[in-house]
Amino acid sequence: MCGIVGIVGAEFKIDELVSDLQKLEYRGYDSAGIAYIENGRISITKTLGRIQNLKEKIKPVTSLAGIAHTRWATHGVPNDINAHPHTDCTGKIALVHNGIIENYVELKEFLLERGHKFISDTDTEVIAHLIEENYEGDLYRAVLKTVKQLNGAYAIAVMHSDHPDILVAARKGSPLVLGKAEDKVILASDVTPIIKYTKDVVFLEEGDIAILKEREYKITDSNGNLVVRKVYHINWDEAAAEKSGYKHFMIKEIKEEPEAIENALVGRITQEGPVLNELKEFDLENIEKIKLVACGTSYHAALVFKYFVEKHSDIDIEVDVASEFRYRNVHVDDKTLVIAISQSGETADTLESVRIVKKKGAKVVAISNVVGSTITRESDVTVYMNAGPEIGVAATKTYVNQLVVLYILGMSLLKRRNIWNEELENDYKFLKESPKLFRKLLESLDIDELASYYKNYNHFMYIGRGINYPTALEGALKLKEISYINATAYPAGELKHGPIALLDPTFPVFAIAPQGYLYEKIKSNIEESKARKARIIAVTNEGNEGLSKIVDDVIYVPSAPDDMYPLIMSPIIQIFAYLISDMRGYDPDKPRNLAKSVTVE
Ligand code: AGP
Repeated sequence: MCGIVGIVGAEFKIDELVSDLQKLEYRGYDSAGIAYIENGRISITKTLGRIQNLKEKIKPVTSLAGIAHTRWATHGVPNDINAHPHTDCTGKIALVHNGIIENYVELKEFLLERGHKFISDTDTEVIAHLIEENYEGDLYRAVLKTVKQLNGAYAIAVMHSDHPDILVAARKGSPLVLGKAEDKVILASDVTPIIKYTKDVVFLEEGDIAILKEREYKITDSNGNLVVRKVYHINWDEAAAEKSGYKHFMIKEIKEEPEAIENALVGRITQEGPVLNELKEFDLENIEKIKLVACGTSYHAALVFKYFVEKHSDIDIEVDVASEFRYRNVHVDDKTLVIAISQSGETADTLESVRIVKKKGAKVVAISNVVGSTITRESDVTVYMNAGPEIGVAATKTYVNQLVVLYILGMSLLKRRNIWNEELENDYKFLKESPKLFRKLLESLDIDELASYYKNYNHFMYIGRGINYPTALEGALKLKEISYINATAYPAGELKHGPIALLDPTFPVFAIAPQGYLYEKIKSNIEESKARKARIIAVTNEGNEGLSKIVDDVIYVPSAPDDMYPLIMSPIIQIFAYLISDMRGYDPDKPRNLAKSVTVE
């Protein structure tokens, strides 16, 4: 979603600020803009489309303060006028905003009556005019007063030409991070633009307002009381957020999966078996129910956990998408463990779900990739997936690491409940071996020709059964989000209850079909699909040569224990989607209409 960067301090070139903004491109956006001080006045450049267009429009000037923004449209179509920064009537105030102001209609009516003139269709513009209305010479005070009048979610950065050496920022519901370098303070929606300047960062908390100056920042709560926020050290290096010779971040991030898994396993594979130190204090032995809540890919990882732990225990496990979960009357108590999964740690629906269940007395474990993100701060404990920065909008290595961490969590929970058997021992062995197996698979996998054959199909049906059904869901999501192909997923047994009516030679079926315990069942579903003349691509395990006699195309992965196929199958569905997207001429890193970090409901 929208991205914010602000810099204040020693004079800097404004194209540097625009380059920093490019680090947030991956969040998804449709327009971009920048404001800075030039000859004592606010100067603004905005453009529809890519930040590159903005780079071409800006002048080679320097400034002491600047704010920059990528917009992901919510109110008003994407165009130059609706792009941020927005200004007040005097043009002395400029502001960028991430979030949604729910009472903007009422505020706008009030401001119109007071004589303010609006030029955009955005909810954001009301904030600029409201600050103007509340301004009596002190920008911080004006922002403090203004945010009290706003309903909804916001992260804002504000500048005023009468105070060319400060920025004021505020957050509620949308993230903002600060970092103090030697001669400047940097503000951003996430840490990626900041790590070039400093790796020590501070996450603003709900209701916080910050005043940023050249060598210092001050943070107050929403009542104006000074507060001190924890400094987090981020150990991502800048190079990790670069493409390093790969055509796209997405393929680079898939190729990083072996190393990412190793990082997720560090300290969690021990002589005594799988261990999650983070959960030492948790009474996992007596948990009666587990509820997992997540969105998109993270939801699919949650489903794998359900199939896995449910099979080996009698714990009640429920999985829900966060946008539904938050509006249900969910029954939780102190014997319920809630697991909130979010690679970004900022997904609005997942965050709200955490708040709701915490109020009801449940213990919440967050699984996230971003140190210090909001969900990690609001949950009781966080298990980090340690995948390193993921820039491609499509989740790839973070999905793999979510699975790894969830398997470890499931295994340590089972072990602590005295459930351990040969099957789990084999699962555990496989997990330890998985970086090696991923390396081998990624080195030898060659499905370019296959992808090229299928690239022009407009529909795909992904099917799987049992623990392999989430892989079908994830495969379909990957393909639709970056290739814009109508890919749908069903538990294979459901085909005959409706979706099979869609199948014909123009509608291929992508079957997740390892020789696991439901193999014979999915083979029957493949036969049923073939009978409707659909082409079949199947992913199965090495050694299952027989399947090639039934289906049109087969992709092999190393043999695995039944429980572990979702892990080893992941790169296949990801690379298939990646290749098709690239071959169709799209940019898989920046799919249309999508954002990496979904910070609005
Ligand atoms: C997956 O490729 C998507 N980018 C999307 O479904 C994502 O998984 C979802 O928005 C949840 O994000 P989160 O893990 O950061 O909460």
